[in-house]
Amino acid sequence: MSNESILRQEILERVKEIYRLRKEEEKFNPGKTKVNYSGRVFDEKEMIAVVDSVIDFWLTLGINGRKFCEDFKNYLGVKYCLVTNSGSSSNLAAISALCSPIINNPMIAGDEVITTAMTFPTTLNPIIQNRLIPIFIDIEEDTYNIDASKIEGAITSKTRAIVFAHTLGNPAEMDKIMKIAKKYNLYVVEDTCDALDSYYDGKKCGTFGDFSTYSFYAAHHMTMGEGGAICTNSLELYRAALSIRDWGRACYCQTGEANPMGACRHRFDFKFGDLPEGYDHKYVYNNIGYNLKPLDIQCAMGIEQLKKLPKFTEARKNNFKVLYECFKKYEDRFILPRVLPKADPSWFAIPITVREDAGFSKRDFVTYLESKLIETRMLFAGNILKQPGYKDIECRIVGELKNTDQVLERTFFLGVYPGLTKEKLEYMVSCIDEYFKK
Ligand SMILES: Cc1ncc(COP(=O)(O)O)c(C=O)c1O
Repeated sequence: MSNESILRQEILERVKEIYRLRKEEEKFNPGKTKVNYSGRVFDEKEMIAVVDSVIDFWLTLGINGRKFCEDFKNYLGVKYCLVTNSGSSSNLAAISALCSPIINNPMIAGDEVITTAMTFPTTLNPIIQNRLIPIFIDIEEDTYNIDASKIEGAITSKTRAIVFAHTLGNPAEMDKIMKIAKKYNLYVVEDTCDALDSYYDGKKCGTFGDFSTYSFYAAHHMTMGEGGAICTNSLELYRAALSIRDWGRACYCQTGEANPMGACRHRFDFKFGDLPEGYDHKYVYNNIGYNLKPLDIQCAMGIEQLKKLPKFTEARKNNFKVLYECFKKYEDRFILPRVLPKADPSWFAIPITVREDAGFSKRDFVTYLESKLIETRMLFAGNILKQPGYKDIECRIVGELKNTDQVLERTFFLGVYPGLTKEKLEYMVSCIDEYFKK
């Protein structure tokens, strides 16, 4: 072994030891230790993978990025995967790719996109940023998903796409949505940031539409700290998204490609528009792009996290069940989440809506839980049209947004992440029960 290999081995052994020491110190003290709604769940393998990658010091996308994409697309069963630096960036690149001049049938400014106002902001933002017009329809009260029965009523000659998230991991009604998309020739973007490993009709969420997007932020089903991915089965859409992710450039050789002529060996062989003959393809820009790439170090972590996904899913499902059973006792006070007959969710969290006549408000209940150090969260923006930044956006609303408003007023969510141990769940249940004993 070389001196460097020996040193590296020593460092990685020490990292393992640090993980073990920290783990030993972890202790849950009910009422004193905060019960987070989510968090990183990892062991020494992620820490070692990250440190190993740091020691390599390649830094930018390379061997780990390529491996993660291979693993992720194999897991999903799709043809193309791109890593990004966030779920938000993934949505931005996906929607922008559908407006790219290099695809066959791009959306153009003024085209309409059907979506929901009960949303995470960066599911909606790329629609606005690409000068498309969001058309808002309501969600279902208890699945919290886009109400597929309302889509057709919102379609006009300008409608080009349906963009939605599988809310908190609960699969949307994909058969109905895809049928409508096919009938009217609409693009479908599945924001799968909260629904990794959820299934609809035996098929993974994120494998139905033209694009699916993922977030690997620390709160999500698996994490790279920050990070994301875009998946598609279309080579044309993949290349457009790749270009948008990588500054808008035309070349699709891998970053750091060793061959000076590029993987294609034709770097200096093209003529593009008004550019001089043979202008370096690496510096030809056929899209107005961004730089949305993650570091290779993040992907090293992602490779290890993906291996743990089946266990994470199992834990999420079990934890959801415990909290669902608890709230079920108080169904006269709360609206419980509903799952469609063909859906098999890997829950991001458990959404709960306080009934109008519950005798207490959402604010009362979440304040109580927070006082017990149980973290609660709002269902993202609620009705985003009521958020200060969105007051003046150009949009159209079709029908009432009654359920969307209800989320704003009366819905919150609790975590179900794999870091919730049996002790923590028991504490949560006992605090919820205590509220109703008073
Ligand atoms: C549905 C949905 N879409 C997009 C995002 C954005 O992901 P990121 O935080 O990685 O930008 C989130 C974030 O939690 C989300 O919940």
